[in-house]
Amino acid sequence: MREERPVHYDEQRETWDVFRYDDVNRVLKDHVSFTAKRSAEDGEPSSGADEGMPMLQTMITTDPPEHTRLRGFVDERFQPGSIREYRPQVERVTEAVLDDLEGRGQFDFVDEVAISLPVTVIAELLGIPAERRDQFKAWSDALVARPEDDSQEERQRVQDARQQAQREMGRYFGSLLQEREGGTADDLITLAANSALNRGEQIGFCMLLLLAGNITTTNLLTNAIWTFEEEGLTDAVRQGAVDLEAAIEETLRYRSPIQSLKRIALEDVELRGRQIQAGDVLTVWLGAANRDPARFDAPEEFRPERQPNRHIAFGTGVHFCLGAHLARMEAAVALNGFLERFDRLDADLWNCQPLNGLYGLESLPCDVS
Ligand code: HEM
Repeated sequence: MREERPVHYDEQRETWDVFRYDDVNRVLKDHVSFTAKRSAEDGEPSSGADEGMPMLQTMITTDPPEHTRLRGFVDERFQPGSIREYRPQVERVTEAVLDDLEGRGQFDFVDEVAISLPVTVIAELLGIPAERRDQFKAWSDALVARPEDDSQEERQRVQDARQQAQREMGRYFGSLLQEREGGTADDLITLAANSALNRGEQIGFCMLLLLAGNITTTNLLTNAIWTFEEEGLTDAVRQGAVDLEAAIEETLRYRSPIQSLKRIALEDVELRGRQIQAGDVLTVWLGAANRDPARFDAPEEFRPERQPNRHIAFGTGVHFCLGAHLARMEAAVALNGFLERFDRLDADLWNCQPLNGLYGLESLPCDVS
């Protein structure tokens, strides 16, 4: 598709599919012609990163100048300098998660490591009290749960559970925000409570962090172990012969956790000779762009030594992932800790369950005995 029909209209899904790196880049950078707001009619989320978001006003579904107002108060906290300060906290969380696995022999990497870690890290950054962590984890699981089969009842059940979790969590965030207003603690709930955002926007921000930061980081961790094992590189990464940070970047390119994003044209635009009209929906494929041969040599090969590696797994333009530096640091700490601790890893790749939609695995059974 990327070669033959780089910009293609899919009648059934009623969307333009955009596959090439340069075109994806252009659409994401041009927020004047392409909005990140949801379409009024279908209520579709604008991207995988905010899947399941209630209709709360957040940065991910707004354009400048509104976007700048909703993101500006927190941007600094996610810059590399601030993220470095969180590192000891992330190392502590990682050690605790790994301690629980000691002596287990066999376990599912997705359930036991890749899901628990990001949710605990975000809970710490937000400043969720320790005694509410289990409840918090249950809510975040419900927010990203997927139907176990295709039946109407199952879809309804998942949808109801998600809405209930959203309501309960919204109320919980609302009460924490109220308690912390005027406070001086340096957690993100206090930062939001003292910002100029109204209460609904503050709640939306807290929920967005959970939705955008959990399943994505889960998939990055899982895709990294999956790919290292598949490529026979696990030992080389463990011993430092392959640089872990470079291998994480290449995993982001090769198996991008978010495969596509949505935008809506605000004006008539020509893209690669095709006429896109105001109001048309576009699906830009990060996964395809990250394997575009016009941009990457041997794109179908996993090459951690790739330099420079200008993938767009975190998007680009004004919506460039707020949590990109955090996700990178978390992945480096978690994977390093995991590979150091378990030096006889044997991941059961025959048993992998591919995940719908986002790119990751439902389970990755590991044997470390
Ligand atoms: C936005 C990917 C981790 C918070 C995005 C976008 C992508 C992305 C592609 C752009 C969405 C768009 O343009 O519509 C990823 C990946 C991650 C990751 C692949 C992990 C490997 C995180 C984490 C957090 C986070 C850990 C927070 C703790 C956000 C937020 C936005 C965002 C708040 C919206 C930014 C804006 O609209 O200005 N992410 N993300 N992400 N991400 Fe991430």
